[in-house]
Amino acid sequence: MNITMIGTGYVGLVTGACLSEFGHQVICMDKDSGKIERLLAGEIPIYEPGLNELVKKNVRENHLSFSTDLAQSVKSAKAVFIAVGTPSQRRGGGYADLTYVYGAAKELAPHLTDYTVVIDKSTVPVGTARQVARVIKETNPEADFDVVSNPEFLREGAAISDFMRPDRVVFGCDSEKASEVLKEIYNPLYLTSTPFVKTSLETAELIKYASNAFLAVKVSFINEMATICEAVDANVVELSKGVGLDGRIGGKFLHPGPGYGGSCFPKDTLALLRIAQEHGTAARIVEAAVEVNAAQKARMVKKIRDALGGSETGRTIGILGLTFKPETDDMRDAPALTILPALAEKGARLKVHDPQGMTEAKKMLPDYEYGESPYDVCEDADAVVLMTEWNQYRALDLERIRSTMKTPLFIDLRNVYTPDKMKKAGFTYIGVGRN
Ligand code: UDX
Repeated sequence: MNITMIGTGYVGLVTGACLSEFGHQVICMDKDSGKIERLLAGEIPIYEPGLNELVKKNVRENHLSFSTDLAQSVKSAKAVFIAVGTPSQRRGGGYADLTYVYGAAKELAPHLTDYTVVIDKSTVPVGTARQVARVIKETNPEADFDVVSNPEFLREGAAISDFMRPDRVVFGCDSEKASEVLKEIYNPLYLTSTPFVKTSLETAELIKYASNAFLAVKVSFINEMATICEAVDANVVELSKGVGLDGRIGGKFLHPGPGYGGSCFPKDTLALLRIAQEHGTAARIVEAAVEVNAAQKARMVKKIRDALGGSETGRTIGILGLTFKPETDDMRDAPALTILPALAEKGARLKVHDPQGMTEAKKMLPDYEYGESPYDVCEDADAVVLMTEWNQYRALDLERIRSTMKTPLFIDLRNVYTPDKMKKAGFTYIGVGRN
């Protein structure tokens, strides 16, 4: 099937590449000509494991191409995905900014020739799909189309495997005809009996927010339990195992840390709060998760400050990891963006390293010393803080680190190491949720 993807960000590029891998003829379109030029030159603008190979293979096999020409891209398509950004509005308050979504709808409308399915892939507030349909109808009353809501559940760093082996495909639509097109698009998944959840437009849009919000609640829950564990001298790693083995709860997303970040949880939780408020109701549990998440980052600053004897002023701190999670270069809403400035503000000297995120991080945190390796940032440090659990940090040469530090203080915000092992290696070790 001829498919056009509008938007070549994390979602659009991964979805376009994977659909071309399914054998569809995909054009990934973006207004940003610089981005399209880089893609045409074979450069992938984001770090996502496996994406580079997948794109190159499908470009080579002529299943995947890139264009800035929306009109041309839409004319030949039977399905047009809208995968543009829906950032939080600049005026704050957590409202999702739908400018790009409605802009795409308005621009594509005049070029719809035969029956076309317009598919909302972006994470959008409830009611957006119907509004997209109105925009298209007003712009081109002759257009023969249906709008479908088809939210994605891709995790950065695992996006391709999440697409190829999803737990479910969710789509909301009003017409059987559109539903048939969606089944044809996702046919390879249909054949492998991936569960398809067909529902209304509103329900599909809300499933996305509900999924992310629930995962965020789980993270804030275990972070809160970690705080209680520290207070009663319990061990949150063992607690998480004991709780997570309950089949009704599950052990995933029960690992404490410096708080959740990324381009989704922070944005989607706030957007869900707004959706509830705008419809005269509330999402109090999600609201609490948002508050706990903000408090968790502040707790990490205090944890580091206390470990340094009450003040970080004039102290050197080595930071391992900047991105909001491993296997990505994405710095959006990373806890480091809150924690590090709070330390620097009090006069700490920060030496930082990240396997993939330093290029992005330098745009937002230009004043810190960027190390070439994790060992660079540990030299002369009064403390080392493990912020992001990259594999590169899981088997560090502890003797080498300890011998170059000013004081052997290791603050592990992801509980990667075990207290006994670190004590034997001569460190004062501090984790999250276990004393
Ligand atoms: C998330 C959802 O998982 C995905 O389904 C959705 O499509 C997009 O948002 P992503 O934001 O890429 O994916 O990251 P995810 O792996 O979910 O982690 C989100 C945040 O939670 C990260 O900051 C991570 O460090 C944190 N986290 C996750 C924890 O602190 N503890 C955990 O146990 C799991």
